[in-house]
Amino acid sequence: MSAKNSSAKRVAKFKNLDSKTQELLREAVEARNFAYCPYSKFQVGASVLCDDGTIYRGCNIENSAYTVGICAERTALAKAISEGKQRFKTVAVIGYQEKFFTTPCGACRQFMSEFGNISVYIAKPELDDVLVTDLEELLPHQFQTMSNHTF
Ligand code: THU
Repeated sequence: MSAKNSSAKRVAKFKNLDSKTQELLREAVEARNFAYCPYSKFQVGASVLCDDGTIYRGCNIENSAYTVGICAERTALAKAISEGKQRFKTVAVIGYQEKFFTTPCGACRQFMSEFGNISVYIAKPELDDVLVTDLEELLPHQFQTMSNHTF
């Protein structure tokens, strides 16, 4: 089976998702409106569902020193972790590209995979087709030492 077909199998319709996942995706759509991206003009929103049911969200934040900008996914996780959360169920990512899902960059995949095999739902702001994946699929053979983790 081609890569195109196998990924097509994992595209769900927003209306068929459970209500908590829908809420998570809507939060990421809202967070995207706060993106600070004067250089790329590419807005991204992300949200993370913690195992206690709480949701934290984030946007990309760029900087005139380009390399110190941060992606939406890492903003969301940093907000959650800095409030004491470390167990995550699901991350939602919203970006707009006409022909592609905005999948997390490599740095974000590594950053998120530190916290286990989180489910990842990716969509455009109109919330119709949703790519359903997870970190093991997005980042096989992650770098890990994991000596201090008990997941
Ligand atoms: N970006 C994210 O925030 N998340 C992604 O998944 C991909 C890329 C941001 C980084 C930068 O601010 C802009 O999108 C263009 O690369």
